[in-house]
Amino acid sequence: MGKKLSENLSEKTCAEGVSKADQPKVLALLREAQERDGYVTHQAVERISKQTGFTESEIDGVASFYAMLYLKPVGRFIVRVCASPSCVVNGGGRALEWASEVLGVSDGETTKDGLFTLEAVSCFGRCETAPNVMINEENYGGIDSKEKMRNLIEKLRREAAAREATK
Ligand code: FES
Repeated sequence: MGKKLSENLSEKTCAEGVSKADQPKVLALLREAQERDGYVTHQAVERISKQTGFTESEIDGVASFYAMLYLKPVGRFIVRVCASPSCVVNGGGRALEWASEVLGVSDGETTKDGLFTLEAVSCFGRCETAPNVMINEENYGGIDSKEKMRNLIEKLRREAAAREATK
């Protein structure tokens, strides 16, 4: 049986139900599960619930609160297009549209081949190289044309294909 929400009300919470003090442990388990399976599966939520004593809905709540955690399958490459002012005014105003056209998906969708998931995100603190696109953990600055966006995506496609060929 999971801990009740009321047991944690004395502490401030970020994600409803799991105390701030307990969140690093829950987050670490969620990240570990995502690294292993590509996303946070329902089975992982069940397991973490048993491990930590929080209810499944509380674990789901933490996973939903953090943008870097996914509760459904996502692409091998997460293409995060910055939609905040520095990137937009420095030439990235149409970056999401370019990425969407090149990938053939809209914000929040994954390509049919399972390689790319597109996301519009807020500033991630790399404004000096605006306009930025972060792909997985790597930042690519100066993406100020559709051609640069296409070149970047195609480079990743080629790298993924080369990796598959050597398996
Ligand atoms: S505004 Fe895009 S990284 Fe800061």
